[in-house]
Amino acid sequence: MGRYLKIFVLACVAVMSAGFAAKAEEGTGEGERIYVKHCSGCHKLTDQTSKGPGFQGVMSRHTEAWIDKWLQNPKAVIESGDADAIKLKEKFRIIMPTLKVVADEKARREIINFLKENDKNRAQ
Ligand code: HEC
Repeated sequence: MGRYLKIFVLACVAVMSAGFAAKAEEGTGEGERIYVKHCSGCHKLTDQTSKGPGFQGVMSRHTEAWIDKWLQNPKAVIESGDADAIKLKEKFRIIMPTLKVVADEKARREIINFLKENDKNRAQ
């Protein structure tokens, strides 16, 4: 009996850790981590303004391509004459810094997925 119990417990642990691994892969964990550490000082997840605009609804204000370009170098987007970027700058008075953490394409994808998830959760 003891042996079967041991096998049963091991099987449970295996199933549970497989579940956790799958969740970590598909989730927005990395994007959330980036947000908390590098964006939350200036952006709230609601529609409330902080140093920068609140993120709620941001994915419907811009295309994904625009956000991807913005994150790589906000100042360059403003200087390129982009009307949306210029309007934002006039409203918020400061220019968002170019952040090393999103220099990497994968990190940008993670944070954009996190923003999508935030919009979805808040639309309910
Ligand atoms: C030092 C403050 C600051 C930090 C840190 C910051 N931002 Fe910003 N962000 C701004 C400001 C200010 C604006 C408005 C445009 C401007 O004036 O540059 C902005 C605009 C944006 C916009 C467009 C928002 C809209 O509603 O149109 C996005 C998207 C964005 N930031 C994403 C991010 C992400 C993602 C991070 C973290 C990786 C981040 N920002 C970190 C200040 C910041």
